[in-house]
Amino acid sequence: MARIPLLAGNWKMHKTVPEAVELVAGLRERLDKLTGVEIAVCPPATALGAVSAALEGSAIALGAQDVFWEKQGAFTGLISPLMLVDIGCRFVVIGHSERRGRFGQADPTYTGDMRRVFGDTDDSVNRKALAAVAHGLTPIICAGETIEERGRGETDAVIEIQVRLALRGFTSDQVGRLVFAYEPVWAIGTGEICEPEEANRVIGRLRQTIREIGGERAADAVRIQYGGSVSEKNAAEVMSQPEIDGALVGGASLKADQFGELVRAAAQAAAARSGK
Ligand code: PGA
Repeated sequence: MARIPLLAGNWKMHKTVPEAVELVAGLRERLDKLTGVEIAVCPPATALGAVSAALEGSAIALGAQDVFWEKQGAFTGLISPLMLVDIGCRFVVIGHSERRGRFGQADPTYTGDMRRVFGDTDDSVNRKALAAVAHGLTPIICAGETIEERGRGETDAVIEIQVRLALRGFTSDQVGRLVFAYEPVWAIGTGEICEPEEANRVIGRLRQTIREIGGERAADAVRIQYGGSVSEKNAAEVMSQPEIDGALVGGASLKADQFGELVRAAAQAAAARSGK
């Protein structure tokens, strides 16, 4: 099955509303007519409404960076899947390593106070993903190992556990419609990309885990992105790997020129890969 690559920009905590609208205008100019790939932008929550309006009539989709699992209620500061749908989101990033703890505990490898503030667990990732799907959103579920885990040779085991726990309670059909992002923690925002062959290998293993859980059809349909220091310079190499169905991009998604070039390079490599 030909899976359509998804290139998604995770803007993290960047862009005021005017800056966000300007970036979207630049992206539309460069990418609105591009075919063969799907494109999404995930602005901070404060810019979702303005970006949604600025994307009117564009094939570029809107995504959020996180979601809570309840529909509504006394949850100060949180945003529900219903609200994301209401504002025009199609995607939502869930379980990014910048928000995750590990196995129900704060991840000791994170520095500073961040780990006490956030601390998504495999359980909360699962709840968020189920709630997102129940409301018609497509979750982009992130999984990745730390440098210590890689050093101990635990990469495949860590990814497998994260994926298995994220998928509790999903039907095979639902699994096939999800998006995963393999994001080695040590490659995020560091400029140190995971070797594309190695990313391809890990993603192949991730797909095998999905095959065991959801069956052949789900494994064939599910899209698995790579994320971590993807730029316009390495996007083609990443996308020429057979298992990699796109990229989740942080830093290089913040400038229209750069993300435009990145997406075009990825689209070209994807077309060459599929022999078009
Ligand atoms: P980066 O971030 O592209 O800046 O490495 C990727 C991500 O965190 O999704």
